[in-house]
Amino acid sequence: MTSELSLEERFQNYVDGENKIEPKDWMPEKYRKTLIRQISQHAHSEVIGMQPEGNWITRAPSLRSKLILLAKVQDEAGHGLYLYSAAETLGIDRQEMIEQLQTGKAKYSSIFNYPTLTWADIGAVGWLVDGAAIQNQVMLTRTSYGPYSRAMVKICKEESFHQRQGYEIIMKMARGTKEQKAMAQDALNRWWWPSLMMFGPSDDDSPNSAQSMKWKIKRKSNDTLRQEFIDKTVPQAEFIGLTIPDPDLKWNEERNSYDFGEMNWDEFYNVIKGNGPCNKQRIAHHVKAHEEGAWVREAANAYAEKQRKRKEANSAA
Ligand SMILES: [Fe+2]
Ligand SMILES: [Fe+2]
Repeated sequence: MTSELSLEERFQNYVDGENKIEPKDWMPEKYRKTLIRQISQHAHSEVIGMQPEGNWITRAPSLRSKLILLAKVQDEAGHGLYLYSAAETLGIDRQEMIEQLQTGKAKYSSIFNYPTLTWADIGAVGWLVDGAAIQNQVMLTRTSYGPYSRAMVKICKEESFHQRQGYEIIMKMARGTKEQKAMAQDALNRWWWPSLMMFGPSDDDSPNSAQSMKWKIKRKSNDTLRQEFIDKTVPQAEFIGLTIPDPDLKWNEERNSYDFGEMNWDEFYNVIKGNGPCNKQRIAHHVKAHEEGAWVREAANAYAEKQRKRKEANSAA
């Protein structure tokens, strides 16, 4: 028991000294489990997040916007890959993570259970959803687990491109015809609150937060990140003449920050439980794509096996 304690103490001191934990280092079991849950959840979000956007690739209004959207959706697939690989260094394999996703055991960001109804939604998703993701992920470039933090550095660079492509779309629409401006406003109305909820429940209701902060998996609380996102985004909405759908939103001189209204957490938990507008559709689509890709995995395995045998034969000769 004492040696276990001292291992944990040494671990904590190492983390407190701003050192990165690497896959072969000793770590508390709960640290490993927390990271597997968080990184795989993050990977699933990247991959499922391709669906609401992929929905508009064939309907993008110009060749330029189609190319940009295609590149963005491909980036998200890449983010999923880096993150699955980072999670695998903790001793879980890809197939197990995929199963957890498809059976509902693992979650992904609730925001991707909302539909993208118009082209303006693609703008709102890039601007707000990728914007909120960056807010969270910049902090994660300094997370204590080495492979996760390194994956985040590259991801963040790409996310800032995503945020800008979204803002460009929404700006163009907000400055377009009356109908286009109304579409932009409507998209903001529908995506604003779900985006704020991406940061998760308030820290008082988030039981794992304190431990994650202590282990430096997280560097900032959910509420701090949410506030930073709001303070950054409100002026962007004002700049293009759109209104944030929150009657309680008000600049607070004393706090040097915006005060804002209550979030509808019942809706949040309801969507997490699987009752959002698109939960079933998202998973069904994932299962279908995964099954259709089975032959690719089989071919890759057969090829790897062939290579292995060839190597064996060579070294025996
Ligand atoms: Fe991403
Ligand atoms: Fe993104």
